[in-house]
Amino acid sequence: AELVVVEDERAAGELVAGSIVSLIRRKPDAVLGLATGSTPLATYRALAARISDESIDVRGVRGFALDEYVGLPAGHPESYRSVITREVVEPLGLTPELVRVPNGDPEQIQHAGVDYEAAILAAGGIDIQILGIGRTGHIGFNEPGSSLASLTRVKTLTAPTRADNARFFDSPDDVPMHCITQGIGTILRARHLVLLAFGEAKADAIAAAVEGPVTASQPGSAVQLHPHTTVIVDEAAAARLE
Ligand code: F6R
Repeated sequence: AELVVVEDERAAGELVAGSIVSLIRRKPDAVLGLATGSTPLATYRALAARISDESIDVRGVRGFALDEYVGLPAGHPESYRSVITREVVEPLGLTPELVRVPNGDPEQIQHAGVDYEAAILAAGGIDIQILGIGRTGHIGFNEPGSSLASLTRVKTLTAPTRADNARFFDSPDDVPMHCITQGIGTILRARHLVLLAFGEAKADAIAAAVEGPVTASQPGSAVQLHPHTTVIVDEAAAARLE
């Protein structure tokens, strides 16, 4: 993987926004793989600014979120559907119907994974997949033990991940127990992976992802299997690299 150590999140955001802008100029119906959480926010902000400053036509841009909680009521402000609308679709001016999020409705969960995989294939695959990483080493919500060949499916969130995400909810008990996430195999099908991490809490996960053995115990290490991965970190997240 190509490793880039940047000054701060803002610098990372500008770098990634630059790659996405070139992609969209080359391919106006580019397919973006969208992470949620705090890590990609600087990228989305920088991208929104470039799109507006340079009047880039993004009406044809398509998107696929990495994951979604299972069982949050429709319209819940912390569902990833709501987050993607608020942080990505609206500020970038994307066409809402072209941006998909896995369906976390329990009534439809049986076919939601297969449907999502079919939609990604029908779109011709993801051009650039933005990834964050959890303290546990998860990418998407593929927690340790997830098969490196896995596709979109329902998973149980681990206690540390629910605790980390409790900051978005009124009470830790409100964090759903389950999620639906692109699998590691799904992520590896994207044409370019961009893994971002900032802060010392991510240093161990980054060292394992970049320099550790490729293992299901550290899902982030799967990026080593991909021929085109860019890892962008700040000094703090790079601290445990050799
Ligand atoms: C989000 C996702 C997760 C996060 C990870 C880091 O769609 O799939 O893997 O990227 O939990 O979260 P933050 O960025 O909030 O530290």
